[in-house]
Amino acid sequence: MSMHSSTLLLFGATGDLSRRMLLPSLYALHADGLINPDLRIFGTARSALTDDAFRDMARAALCEFLPDDRKAEGLIDAFLQRLSYVALDASDPQGFAALADKIGDISGGLSIFLSTAPSLFEPTIKGLHNAGLSGENVRIGLEKPLGNDLASSQHINDAVNAVFPETRTFRIDHYLGKETVQNLMALRFANMLFEPLWNANAIEHVQITVSETVGLEGRAGFYDDTGALRDMVQNHMLQLLALTAMEPPASLDATAIRDEKVKVLRALRPVVEGDVVTGQYNDGAVNGEAVKGYDSDLGKPSDTETFVAIKAYVDNWRWQGVPFFLRTGKRLPERRSEIVIQFKPVPHNVFKDRGGRLEANTLVIRLQPEEYVRLLVMAKEPGLDRGGVTLREVPLDLSLTAAFAGSRRRIAYERLLLDLIEGDQTLFVRRDEVEAQWKWIDAIRALWDATALKPKGYGAGSWGPSAAIALTERDGVSWHE
Ligand code: BG6
Repeated sequence: MSMHSSTLLLFGATGDLSRRMLLPSLYALHADGLINPDLRIFGTARSALTDDAFRDMARAALCEFLPDDRKAEGLIDAFLQRLSYVALDASDPQGFAALADKIGDISGGLSIFLSTAPSLFEPTIKGLHNAGLSGENVRIGLEKPLGNDLASSQHINDAVNAVFPETRTFRIDHYLGKETVQNLMALRFANMLFEPLWNANAIEHVQITVSETVGLEGRAGFYDDTGALRDMVQNHMLQLLALTAMEPPASLDATAIRDEKVKVLRALRPVVEGDVVTGQYNDGAVNGEAVKGYDSDLGKPSDTETFVAIKAYVDNWRWQGVPFFLRTGKRLPERRSEIVIQFKPVPHNVFKDRGGRLEANTLVIRLQPEEYVRLLVMAKEPGLDRGGVTLREVPLDLSLTAAFAGSRRRIAYERLLLDLIEGDQTLFVRRDEVEAQWKWIDAIRALWDATALKPKGYGAGSWGPSAAIALTERDGVSWHE
């Protein structure tokens, strides 16, 4: 089903995500002529605002969050003309009738995006349905978190699917909208070079790091209930793992890709004691600035983890015995998302007698903040080699930023909102994927409970607790720095 919607309805339109990401993304699509000139955008939230007050709020958000070279007065004015606002309390059925009234004709298709607390998903969906806003040409987009364990996520999915079938349900994982994540598929499936080696015969291990320098960012309540495992591993990191490990799909079609990803997620081996490390940041310094520990940020003692490192395995033919080391955390030394593929050493070192020492090849796929692919290969240092051969690891560098300097870097939500409006599900997470992800995560939490695992302290600005280093060192592996 692919058809442009002529109306977009945003729940949570005055919220943080909307101001930072959704409105600026819609504006960017508007500015580049990528959305239909007649697309109408309705915002809803609880506050009583007039259309004009909503537009003022949107203007302020654009001024705050758009890069300077994107702010064009005339374009902003024209964009704001698309916006209208309806105040709505999700628990009030009357409100939905008024909303439907204001929206009017939806025969041109309606895309709805829920960027609200997940506790509001169910009443909102009921309200939409009762007000006639759930027919065949209506799709629903859902922002994370989709529950906080398998049971609650199934509950939400049941409520959603009772009204919107899976083909009209779009679950966001914004990592899937990132350019370099897309590029992972191009790298793997548009080149002959990598795929024949992309398996346990040639790969020793894989590392996936998503590190952040930020702390709680004003979301203390949410974060303390959630923790790093559910906030980052359950979704973003497992999606990166699935894209890295999946079999080549037969086509780029949404079903083909998601079928392959879910097979990987289902093949994840349950994590055993000792293969997961959790941490919580203490006082320290990030980028030279002193920062407080988690408990002070939160204002009370807590056992929530702000760091997690896991040794995972994908139990299938391709990946047998290959550890996937995952780590993510807040208040780490730098913001960095990357996938590192560590190849095995060559079977025989012909340079050995001449003193040549070899490093195994490493492929680094850096997703952010820079975007590059770097292959570390062995080369001989220039010289006559009378005292022996000196071999050195040198980078074969592909900077995507430099190679595509002329093209605009788009934020993930630009692509994802456009896909929602156009009805392309490829980059959205299917129900079976989310549930496979939760199943694996729930088992990890059950293990923590059973073993009374508590997060170990780490200094803010360090790479997590020392146990995270020990986790890889045990296998003779160092985290890629
Ligand atoms: C969100 C998490 O899903 O992803 C945040 O809730 C995290 O805690 C964010 O900071 C990271 O996203 P990005 O795009 O900045 O890497």
